[in-house]
Amino acid sequence: MLRVNLFQLKPGMKLAQPVYNADGVLLLAQGTELSKQEIERLLSYGVRWVYIEGYDTPGELIVDIISQQTRTDAIRTLKNLIFAVAKKELVPGGYREILDKVVEKILGELRESRDKCVKMLDIRTLDSYTYAHSVNVCLLSLLVGLAMNFTEEELKVLGLAALLHDIGKMMVPKEILEKEAPLDEEEREEVEQHPYFGYRLVLEDPQMNPVIAEIIYQHHERYDGSGYPRGLKGKEILLPASIVVLPMSMTP
Ligand SMILES: [Fe+2]
Repeated sequence: MLRVNLFQLKPGMKLAQPVYNADGVLLLAQGTELSKQEIERLLSYGVRWVYIEGYDTPGELIVDIISQQTRTDAIRTLKNLIFAVAKKELVPGGYREILDKVVEKILGELRESRDKCVKMLDIRTLDSYTYAHSVNVCLLSLLVGLAMNFTEEELKVLGLAALLHDIGKMMVPKEILEKEAPLDEEEREEVEQHPYFGYRLVLEDPQMNPVIAEIIYQHHERYDGSGYPRGLKGKEILLPASIVVLPMSMTP
């Protein structure tokens, strides 16, 4: 199976995995032999790459570590949750059961494909959308947790914190988050408050373990004290927070 950039697709190539849009709606089924029209349709939906059967196509040989369905479900769940929390219809724990299931599903599939997990390049080059990024951070954090023999409960706390690490960004004005020009001092300070905003949001929710809130608070701290917002260093940083930091800076 190969992952092929949409611009390299040619009519007649066969999909090795179904293609979904960002909301999890099926666009094309697995096994579809692509026509010119279908390739154009995928382009119009903003799809950037697909999985193609065979090894004789230019592209990147790929072994995904979780199924496309699980990845899409996780991204959709996270997106729905963040929308609902932003509209104040819900607190983060309002999705607790669903979030637990997302982490459990990812964890289950990771356990099955641990040997394939070393293919980090796959993860580095995935979509850079925030939700996809958060799911990748969750995946990589869980891998480290698994390698460190974390207990089931520790893995769940780690997975949830990783999934929600940037939830505080919803409290930062969109104009600042999306600004292309360099941020001024005041704007930078505002952005650097997002770990604290996320911490408050999760802490206020009785369904969430306070450790999750603390990990979120610490996700931009650095071992040498150069991080933010509190400039914690060394052992002041929780182990799970230092795990989340790693994939967060590795993935786009
Ligand atoms: Fe962040």
